Amino acid sequence: MDPSKFLILSILTLLTHNCSCQSVPSHNEEGHRVVSVDDHFAKGDGATDDSKAFKKAWKETCSSSVSAVLVVPKRRRYLLEQLNFTGPCKSPVTFLIKGTLAAPLNRSEWNDKNRRLWIVFDSVRNLVVKGGGTINGNGHIWWQNSCKRNKTLPCIGAPTALTFVSCNYLRVKNLRIKDSQQFHVVVKDSREVKLSKLFIHAPEKSPNTDGIHLDHASNVVIRNCEIRTGDDCISIWTGSKNVRVHKIFCRNLETWMDPFVTQ
Ligand SMILES: *[C@@H]1O[C@H](CO)[C@@H](O)[C@H](O)[C@H]1NC(C)=O
Ligand SMILES: *[C@@H]1O[C@H](CO)[C@@H](O)[C@H](O)[C@H]1NC(C)=O
Ligand SMILES: *[C@@H]1O[C@H](CO)[C@@H](O)[C@H](O)[C@H]1NC(C)=O
Repeated sequence: MDPSKFLILSILTLLTHNCSCQSVPSHNEEGHRVVSVDDHFAKGDGATDDSKAFKKAWKETCSSSVSAVLVVPKRRRYLLEQLNFTGPCKSPVTFLIKGTLAAPLNRSEWNDKNRRLWIVFDSVRNLVVKGGGTINGNGHIWWQNSCKRNKTLPCIGAPTALTFVSCNYLRVKNLRIKDSQQFHVVVKDSREVKLSKLFIHAPEKSPNTDGIHLDHASNVVIRNCEIRTGDDCISIWTGSKNVRVHKIFCRNLETWMDPFVTQ
């Protein structure tokens, strides 16, 4: 072969090789990196465990050097085992839930070590979770096996659907969170937190299904939420301060509390 042709061929091979290895990351109009769980081969059929795809998508989102959006596409249902989305992340992250996240129906997916958690965000600063989608804890099997329902069973506790630990500058909005195994949303050891437009629903007789639980959370604003569960709408645990609650529809009380301030 003529050496110049060989050189061109090599360069071409190199170029195509690069292209097939690294897909060009997509960006939205704001220049944010966009990562869909479907890019990582999530099935979204409600039956396949998509946890691996979510872990990979989180890794890519959290390590992005520009603001990044992790997208959970709409009209799809992603079955997820216990997951811990851990920071710190390189840039601010948005977790855009348009579809549904569903918990396993089988309680043996949990062990004694992680029984209190389903979806966790830990140490993620500047996190936004939104998108109009649904988080479904499929709690029925847990309620049936609760010692509050059946006194002969041991009291072992059940997972919280959505837990935030050490997430400062957190915003959670426009989501439906339903039928949690136990508490629906827990915010722990976090400050500068805004929760809004959350629709939290579980049957009236479901045990310990508190709506929002704060534990050592400060500078918190909760507004425009509808909470109908089997237990407290909002519970505030020790170490929490400067919590403001506006316009909450709580269970069947049909009362709007505005403004309601606790210290
Ligand atoms: C989440 O995972 C990280 C890293 O493994 C761990 O340090 C942290 O304790 C976990 N968070 C929770 C709430 O279990
Ligand atoms: C739940 O999972 C366990 C262990 O993986 C399995 O043995 C059991 O058959 C499952 N139960 C149901 C109802 O799928
Ligand atoms: C309570 O739990 C026990 C032990 O699993 C079971 O045999 C019994 O049928 C349960 N009772 C009800 C009312 O579900």
